[in-house]
Amino acid sequence: MTDVNSAPAHVLAARGGDPDWWRQAVVYQIYPRSFADGDGDGIGDLAGIISRVGHLAELGVDAVWMSPFYPSALADGGYDVDDYRDVDPRIGTLDQFDELVEALHARGIRLIIDLVPNHSSDRHEWFQAALAAKAGSPERDRFIFRDGQGEDGELPPSDWRSLFGGPAWTRVPDGQWYLHIFAKEQPDWNWANPEVRADFLRTLAFWGDRGVDGFRVDVANALSKRLPEVLPSQEDLADETLYAVGDHWLWDRDDVHDIYAEWRTLFNKYDPPLMAVAEAWVPAERRIRYADAAGLGQAFNFDLLRADWDPEQFRTIISDNLALAEPSGSSATWVFSNHDVVRHATRYGLAGGGDGNDWLLSRGTKPVEDRDLGARRSRAVTLLALALPGSTYLYQGEELGLPEVATIPDEARQDVVFFRKGGIEMGRDGCRVPLPWTEHGTSFGFGPNGAHLPQPAWFAEYAADVQDKSPDSTLNLYRRALGLRRKLQTAGTLEWLMTDSTVVAFRRPNGWVSMTNFGTEPTALPEGELLVTSGPLNDGNVLPPDTTVWLRTVE
Ligand code: GLC
Repeated sequence: MTDVNSAPAHVLAARGGDPDWWRQAVVYQIYPRSFADGDGDGIGDLAGIISRVGHLAELGVDAVWMSPFYPSALADGGYDVDDYRDVDPRIGTLDQFDELVEALHARGIRLIIDLVPNHSSDRHEWFQAALAAKAGSPERDRFIFRDGQGEDGELPPSDWRSLFGGPAWTRVPDGQWYLHIFAKEQPDWNWANPEVRADFLRTLAFWGDRGVDGFRVDVANALSKRLPEVLPSQEDLADETLYAVGDHWLWDRDDVHDIYAEWRTLFNKYDPPLMAVAEAWVPAERRIRYADAAGLGQAFNFDLLRADWDPEQFRTIISDNLALAEPSGSSATWVFSNHDVVRHATRYGLAGGGDGNDWLLSRGTKPVEDRDLGARRSRAVTLLALALPGSTYLYQGEELGLPEVATIPDEARQDVVFFRKGGIEMGRDGCRVPLPWTEHGTSFGFGPNGAHLPQPAWFAEYAADVQDKSPDSTLNLYRRALGLRRKLQTAGTLEWLMTDSTVVAFRRPNGWVSMTNFGTEPTALPEGELLVTSGPLNDGNVLPPDTTVWLRTVE
């Protein structure tokens, strides 16, 4: 690592701040290729983000999490990284990256970047070197190469399936096979190789020294693998018993945390320490290991991505996650939308709930999306989550109440999931359509030219400039809520109220009360100062269905 104190002045100024800044932060996820396009090539870029820092500041977010912006052939939307220490030329330059850090820090906004350590891309210099080298070479040992089965090694080393469909092994010209648990363009790193470990430490320091405040760690539960001579079968992989004891071949192994302990030592050399949040799809009781202060420090809880419009589910998810955050010394996290799932403004407008995949497969026809209901309920649950202790992660466009786009023609689709699993899954393009900034103009103000995924005509009504002018818009609701939250956020505890009703209600220590009506009848509001409401109250003293209100009550 280079000398931390040689960082630029604005980096040092932003540093030295509160080491706990992330514990109750509102973090806004930018999927850079779809946020704002500065140079008119139809692909969002750093210049576009820099031009919209004012939007982020006005929204009132504490931090930005930027999805991959590295050079990439986009086999998986940028999660196939050619070079971990550079910027995709279509997205910008390292100088512009520095400018972005400076612009965000100048507005008091931190920056978390996506790190993809489980796999690189097949264009990564080291993978190319592995291909050029022989079987058994040090170059191949950085990835997971094996001889095949069968007389001439013509069969893959095991029958494993990739998570994106198709086999998890791909053969190279000299006959060996390499492992990729995602697309074939995403070869898995061999984390047992010390060079791989050292190179990632270099990458972390490279960005730490450039001023980033933390990392979102992609597929954090897969880095460490146990690969015996005789590999288990796909069926064996489903064995739950090994998961439970942290000794599965591929997933959530206990020893993955040795890697994160090394990272933590590096993170703690910065002042304040760099933060990290794990993407780890593991059972809740195992998630806390990722959130441990001796490791990454925080982990996503994805329970709300699957939560139906059901008060009991919400109460359980909230209590369980608050309870789980405690022993790890971390804080809880709340997420309704991200770049991998159907936007929650749509999910809550689909009768029967679910993840929206069947609706996507029907090209958005079955069930019929009820946009008004989706808007009411998504606004209500977001306001609820913003009143909870812990960090809330927002996904770009949700502040506009943007629904999912289900009508992207097949020939315009980009997601590997659609190509490899089409027919079963439509993929994630519908939540990655470039944002509408203006009602009029080419690509609704996304950029001076077109957009890399087609935007529907109805994007006009969701445009930021339309919502800016309307006091009751979703954008202004988010702004109000984030502003209030900043003032009200207090010790990370809550007291449940009205626990056996269809109203989910709780009080924070300073008398801040959040109430969400999941029922079908209006319910009486307690006495108190009305702070913000997710929808009209009509009669001042009752809370209508599908609505959240924040009040300040006298204890
Ligand atoms: C994570 C990312 C997802 C990506 C996958 C493989 O789940 O969120 O977008 O496809 O990892 O890198």
